[in-house]
Amino acid sequence: MPDSFSADVASEVLASGGNAVDAAIAAQFVLAVTLPEAGNIGGGGFMLIHKDSEQYFLDYREMAPAAASRDMYLDDDGNVIPNLSLYGVLASGVPGTVAGMWQAHQRHGTKPWAELVEPAVKLAAGGFAVPAPLARYASAFARKVEGKHPSVNFARYFGAMEAGERFRQPELAATLRRIRDQGPDGFYRGETAKIIATFMRKNRGLITEADLAAYEAKWREPIVAHWRDLQVVSAAPPSSGGIAVVQWLKMYDRALAANPRPAHNSSEYLHLLAEVGKRVFADRAEYLGDPDFYPVPVAELLADEYIAMRAGELNLAAISPTPAIQPGLQESEETTHFSIVDQWGNAVSNTTTINLGFGSGVVVDGAGFLLNDEMDDFSAKPGVANAFGALGGEANEVQPFKRMLSSMSPTIVLRDGNVKIVTGSPGGTTIISSVYQSILNAVEFGMDAQKIVDSPRFHHQLWPRDVIRHHTGLDAATRAELQAMGYKLDDRGFGDLQVIVERHGQLEAASQSSGRGATSVISIECPAKHCL
Ligand code: DON
Repeated sequence: MPDSFSADVASEVLASGGNAVDAAIAAQFVLAVTLPEAGNIGGGGFMLIHKDSEQYFLDYREMAPAAASRDMYLDDDGNVIPNLSLYGVLASGVPGTVAGMWQAHQRHGTKPWAELVEPAVKLAAGGFAVPAPLARYASAFARKVEGKHPSVNFARYFGAMEAGERFRQPELAATLRRIRDQGPDGFYRGETAKIIATFMRKNRGLITEADLAAYEAKWREPIVAHWRDLQVVSAAPPSSGGIAVVQWLKMYDRALAANPRPAHNSSEYLHLLAEVGKRVFADRAEYLGDPDFYPVPVAELLADEYIAMRAGELNLAAISPTPAIQPGLQESEETTHFSIVDQWGNAVSNTTTINLGFGSGVVVDGAGFLLNDEMDDFSAKPGVANAFGALGGEANEVQPFKRMLSSMSPTIVLRDGNVKIVTGSPGGTTIISSVYQSILNAVEFGMDAQKIVDSPRFHHQLWPRDVIRHHTGLDAATRAELQAMGYKLDDRGFGDLQVIVERHGQLEAASQSSGRGATSVISIECPAKHCL
């Protein structure tokens, strides 16, 4: 059974005249209560908005605290200390979610803020019936994380969840009430900030009251690219997602210009897109990081001549040797996503996370919410992979107040200014593959919404060498051909696509069947001329 707590609340907001941004804010806060493994107020994310023909990209990614430093995860011999950026208080960046929701509301909200936070307060105070998969996941995580760091207190808060039983979170309810009543000051200043900073001091964490007060969600220019007759709008740095999705789609087309189009999920198709992935991830590791700290060459990475040059390196007959793939410029498992379209055709694509499931395993004592382990998305040391196998260097090294590089790729695809696709997924670096393949499934293969999200997908990211991770369901001949070419196959599926697609003039919505999400398409009596 899918969980529909947040989809239900979002539907109610839309049905009572709220717009897509109102619905997104209410959904985000509900997810902080009912999806503790990923929904959050202790994490961050990206919200992409299409409203009244304009596009807006909101960066509410976590940032490193002032006391963070480049080598903070290394021991005296310069080796990465296992788990330090993943569990316990040192794993957390300064949370961005509350500031993000507030910014979105200030600019685009139409319903009163308190009304949008209230459903989450109710669910935290009154409790909700725990879905069986959440109970299983929480108890497995409680065992796994025990003893990983002295500050880990996950089991005390979430260890006793029972499937079907009502689960109340009184401390979280009190924190949400302060947010409801005081806006961002209810989190970044006053009582909640004091509780967080005191907890950090007690546990030798780094986040201070000053760090919280300094946090800002930022409006940035989204990545916008023309691809075929469509406009792809996606996440800008500090996400790598938008650049990577566009590079992937454009290099695919370049390759098709000189070669026959391979069948969906054939070995030729997987190999072609894996070849592209090698180049995309080599660039990601070298050039991408927080643009406020590192000059990310966005225009160069997306320039037609550059894409053509990189596509020219693809080897469609054999696997390009991994160590030979260098960045190309000549210069010098848990996140959650929701997609919403409202009655006026406005859209929100929002991906939010505390990084891995249940984040750092640390609940702020007295405030009742889980803190992220997003610091692991920085590069702790050049050449050493993070939890998603991603490499990085100077562009993504830890610095005070810097945002760690992300793969979250909330994306909206427009045709003639109207919403064609709203898409996004969790999955760390695999997010990028889920998103670009959802676009290909819709545009290149004309699939309906459910097929778009449920067709087996695959991911290749340069390192580990020649590994293709894929969903079960690829046919045996495809797998055998790929293995014969030299690929190693890893059948741990990934992602949880939440897609809205326009087909034949109608909107269809689908949530990946293997996940816990739910969709709902509601019909609203529409007096306005601009209704869909
Ligand atoms: O920002 C990122 O790319 C990661 N922190 C996202 C984490 C994620 O998707 C985990 N989900 N399975």
